[in-house]
Amino acid sequence: MIGANGQIGTELAVALRQKFGSENVITSDLREPRSPKEGEIFEIINVLDKPALKALFEKYKPTQVYLLAAMLSATGEQYPMKAWDLNMNGLLNVLDLALELGIKKIFWPSSIAVFGPHSPKQNTPQYCIMDPNSIYGISKLAGERLCEYYHKKYGLDIRSLRYPGIISWKTAPGGGTTDYAVDIFFEALKSGKYSCFLSADTALPMLYMEDAVAGTIALMDAAQEQLTVRSSYNLGGISFTPAEIAEEITKILPNFEMSYVENDPRQAIADSWPASIEDTVAQEDWNWKPTFDLQAMTKDMIENLK
Ligand SMILES: NC(=O)c1ccc[n+]([C@@H]2O[C@H](COP(=O)([O-])OP(=O)(O)OC[C@H]3O[C@@H](n4cnc5c(N)ncnc54)[C@H](O)[C@@H]3O)[C@@H](O)[C@H]2O)c1
Repeated sequence: MIGANGQIGTELAVALRQKFGSENVITSDLREPRSPKEGEIFEIINVLDKPALKALFEKYKPTQVYLLAAMLSATGEQYPMKAWDLNMNGLLNVLDLALELGIKKIFWPSSIAVFGPHSPKQNTPQYCIMDPNSIYGISKLAGERLCEYYHKKYGLDIRSLRYPGIISWKTAPGGGTTDYAVDIFFEALKSGKYSCFLSADTALPMLYMEDAVAGTIALMDAAQEQLTVRSSYNLGGISFTPAEIAEEITKILPNFEMSYVENDPRQAIADSWPASIEDTVAQEDWNWKPTFDLQAMTKDMIENLK
């Protein structure tokens, strides 16, 4: 797993170690993990350093690669060319080395950021107009096209999900537009109030980490012939607005107060994204079904963060 110290990698690695055994999961990142555990194999790697990546693959001969290293939407707008470089060349390095070294299976996540202002906003379907206008979304859409291309042209078994905003409590999110839906829980418990950078009625698709991890593993376990999408699968979860999540939190923490900051640059990114996602193709192909709704997620977040 490359980019394993981030929000998703930290939890996906735990699940993969449980499934395959610690000796069979190699995590890697630019920097050491914050709390390394005995028996876990970790390597420092920069995914942009192709010779070092090749040496790493030759050392461990992985059968599957999970590529999670990326620059996310909000940070990407601050450093557009760095985001393009990491998100595109990181992916190309992995795809090319997978072909060269015969790595069997690749997982690479895309995002709901591949949609844009002319995509249908409600229940955005698998196939529709896609005109992303953030550098992150542009890089993810290009990445999806490359994944499908490498599958069709070279037979590479690459699998992908368009993750919505992922909500979790173990590791802080890495600079995305949906980060408010994680920060709000930390602040609700710490100070009893939260100043939100998105407007009260900005609905966005989100997903609880447990469902994201289970969905990723289900996709990777699915038989090749079940999969009809080789760009990236729509993955719906829970769609809600800042006002709705604040109301849910208030049911458990009655004194919680929410306020809103205007003119944050992340609002424009959110406004160009879907409000909800239609994911019947994932349901039909590999039985995708999330288990957490807004209420269950809010309860679980607060219980764990406490
Ligand atoms: N978290 C979400 O809500 C979300 C939503 C949609 C898609 N995604 C996608 O899922 C993937 C993982 O996201 P995340 O939230 O865990 O991200 P994150 O920012 O929390 O973690 C990314 C990790 O990659 C590492 N990294 C950065 N540059 C690297 C490099 N050059 N070489 C090796 N490692 C490097 C970072 O140190 C970090 O630990 C990304 O592709 C992201 O676009 C995430």
